[in-house]
Amino acid sequence: MMNHSQSTGADYNYTIVRQFALTTVLWGIVGMAVGVLIAAQLIWPQLNFETPWLTYSRLRPLHTNAVIFAFGTSALFATSYYIVQRTCQTKLFAPKLAAFTFWGWQAIILSAAITLPLGFTSGKEYAELEWPIDIAITVVWVCYAIVFFGTIIKRTTSHIYVANWFFGAFIITVAVLHIVNSMAVPVSMLKSYSMYSGAVDAMVQWWYGHNAVGFLLTAGFLGMMYYFVPKQAGRPVYSYRLSIVHFWALIALYIWAGPHHLHYTALPDWTQSLGMVMSLILFAPSWGGMINGIMTLSGAWHKLRTDPVLRFLVVSLSFYGMSTFEGPMMAIKTVNALSHYTDWTVGHVHSGALGWVAMVSIGSLYHLIPVLFGHGRMYSTSLVNVHFWLATIGTVLYIVSMWISGVMQGLMWRAVNSDGTLTYSFVESLEASYPFYFVRFVGGAFFLAGMLIMAYNVILTVKAKKDSLPSLSEA
Ligand code: HEM
Ligand code: HEM
Repeated sequence: MMNHSQSTGADYNYTIVRQFALTTVLWGIVGMAVGVLIAAQLIWPQLNFETPWLTYSRLRPLHTNAVIFAFGTSALFATSYYIVQRTCQTKLFAPKLAAFTFWGWQAIILSAAITLPLGFTSGKEYAELEWPIDIAITVVWVCYAIVFFGTIIKRTTSHIYVANWFFGAFIITVAVLHIVNSMAVPVSMLKSYSMYSGAVDAMVQWWYGHNAVGFLLTAGFLGMMYYFVPKQAGRPVYSYRLSIVHFWALIALYIWAGPHHLHYTALPDWTQSLGMVMSLILFAPSWGGMINGIMTLSGAWHKLRTDPVLRFLVVSLSFYGMSTFEGPMMAIKTVNALSHYTDWTVGHVHSGALGWVAMVSIGSLYHLIPVLFGHGRMYSTSLVNVHFWLATIGTVLYIVSMWISGVMQGLMWRAVNSDGTLTYSFVESLEASYPFYFVRFVGGAFFLAGMLIMAYNVILTVKAKKDSLPSLSEA
């Protein structure tokens, strides 16, 4: 894999990669700014300014859609289009179709940014967009699959590098999940009703929801990890064999775990137990992958002292390990009885979302952007370092505050007096949560500040004269 670094950018289609890389930074800022705003609204509700489209209920799905589908998915488009070309040593298949995926995806993001605040929603979490936008997503996604797999087919290398396996699984599975879960009966241009009802609707929704986590927020970003960690460390993947076992085990297990989102509901009991057991087993391949990534640094640990980009990647793997330990624990029914409905879930989400998804994307972009614009490094390595600390401290503040408030809420809700009445009212538990909401808000503001610094550094890197920024080892 390492010999690809000798190829020049001229051989590849970098335009599309540049476009997606830059929009990743833009959408990251927008999505996280909305995150900081809703975090603030939970402390100061008057921040909705009595305006319907600024209310929490409309901005929350705007936040989740923006960070997952605008920020995260743009990062996946950029890195998959880059990696598939480099590791297959061929130009992207169907460049016009690739350009269409960029403009099509931006149009979808804009329509989400308009319709969600206006209150148009199908009400399904992470699948809120109404049916015309769902159809557009399907069209763009199929084109993405054609470009990606077309490039794999016309590769000039004999094997398919493991990162592409993860991207391939992510692309196919997201298509299937999206189409099945979005099946609906339209009643007007912007209103539809799900084809499913009752427990079946819940089951399909969380089969979708959990696998959006497994294949979009995990498999896709593992593809990123398997390319950029070895590249940045300057070492081959620790164990190629382990990466293949990791891949098949992850794919085989994730798809069964959805019911852990529906413990103690009307779902048949055996499906809940199955979801719990599959989630527990999922711990093994998750940690296998994490260890494979971290051990890739063996012999290169000293680079962590000087290379903040590598630090982003390694810390992202640590958070991946942490959230995939926490997830199986929360899937145990008795633990979930405490954690469900509380901020513990929100803490778990963001240890995956900020610590893993955002950090691995940011690290990969700091490697990628200089290459795309003909440089050896970012304009300012010390600003990358500042960003690293803001992101790490921000993530820790966010998740630790949510862990404490989550466990506290769970314990307060279940506390009973000797006569069987509840010890605390719901409002008392809410009042007790305020200090933690404030810490979360500060953590989010730290993370967002880091993203703004990144944007500044990216602009200076893009504007810098070609070859004026040699890599640190050449300087
Ligand atoms: C082995 C891996 C994992 C397992 C078994 C797992 C398990 C769980 C469990 C049990 C819940 C709580 C469900 C509830 O009480 O409602 C949950 C929620 C969640 N997890 Fe994980 N998790 C894992 C990894 C991750 C990762 C890496 C991410 C993110 C990148 C993530 C994102 C989420 C999200 C977004 C939710 C909240 C869903 C919602 O209620 O809206 N998980 N997970
Ligand atoms: C500055 C950074 C961020 C801040 C301040 C922030 C803040 C928030 C807040 C306040 C909520 C609502 C929690 C609640 O309803 O109690 C939320 C939900 C959520 N956020 Fe973020 N967020 C940030 C970044 C991200 C990123 C980068 C991702 C994904 C890649 C993400 C994914 C989610 C998800 C999936 C939920 C729904 C969780 C659930 O339903 O359990 N967030 N965020």
